[in-house]
Amino acid sequence: MPNDLQALTARLSSAGFISAEEEAHELLACAAGDEERLHSLVERRLTGEPLAWIIGHVSFCGLEIRVDPGVYVPRWQSEPLARRAVERLPMAGAAIDLCTGTGAIARTLATARPGARVVASDIDERAVACAAANGVEVYRGDLFAPLPRTLEGRVDVIVGVVPYVPTPALPLLQRDTFTFESALAYDGGPDGTEILRRVLSGSPRFLRQGGALLLELGGAQEGALGDDLARFGYVDVTVLEDQDGDVRGIEATRAR
Ligand SMILES: C[S@@+](CC[C@H](N)C(=O)[O-])C[C@H]1O[C@@H](n2cnc3c(N)ncnc32)[C@H](O)[C@@H]1O
Repeated sequence: MPNDLQALTARLSSAGFISAEEEAHELLACAAGDEERLHSLVERRLTGEPLAWIIGHVSFCGLEIRVDPGVYVPRWQSEPLARRAVERLPMAGAAIDLCTGTGAIARTLATARPGARVVASDIDERAVACAAANGVEVYRGDLFAPLPRTLEGRVDVIVGVVPYVPTPALPLLQRDTFTFESALAYDGGPDGTEILRRVLSGSPRFLRQGGALLLELGGAQEGALGDDLARFGYVDVTVLEDQDGDVRGIEATRAR
């Protein structure tokens, strides 16, 4: 097993890993000079297991977030949504992070707004345990169901990276995603909007008037949600795009 950076980089690169040198750095740091451990870490990585599960953490919005095996790995593509949610959260406000996974977005909000109350929910017990280990006030259950009723009508920001991949598109996800990660993190129903629509209908109960709803989504889903956004009283709907002009999310405000 190669134990120097150059050799490990070459091994990972020849196995098809695009960020081979970066990953080699991380694996060597995690092994901390223990060759047997390095061997086991590299073997796991060569099976395609997510790097974050192997080294136990990932960077998100400049924070080190613990990632337990089995829990969705927060993506850098979600960082702009988290940062926008911070901008909409008053210093002593209240926020909900739905489908929190590791709790990365909730942690980002709580770190930037230490005076705010930030709560989160997830249906998966491994995610709930991981988010709690990341210092998040997290509740286990379906979307809004487990959240404290005392927050009803008082929340400034609801943010979510909820499952939004259309069920027929699940087999098109990367091979490693499908092998290691649970469909629970991705499956958004026939057109991907099933959970998004449930969030739109459930949010007005918790959001204060003028509060913000920020959701990650893709493709043409923002158009498909137009009627629901109007029906549930959202205004100032903005489509959030990435640098390539691809739709990444929506931001909407609960009408006053
Ligand atoms: C795409 S992952 C996003 C995790 C996290 N928001 C992030 O960006 O890193 C979706 C998460 O939703 C959770 N989930 C799926 N269905 C849910 C439901 N009905 N209620 C609450 N959480 C759910 C999954 O367990 C998973 O952790």
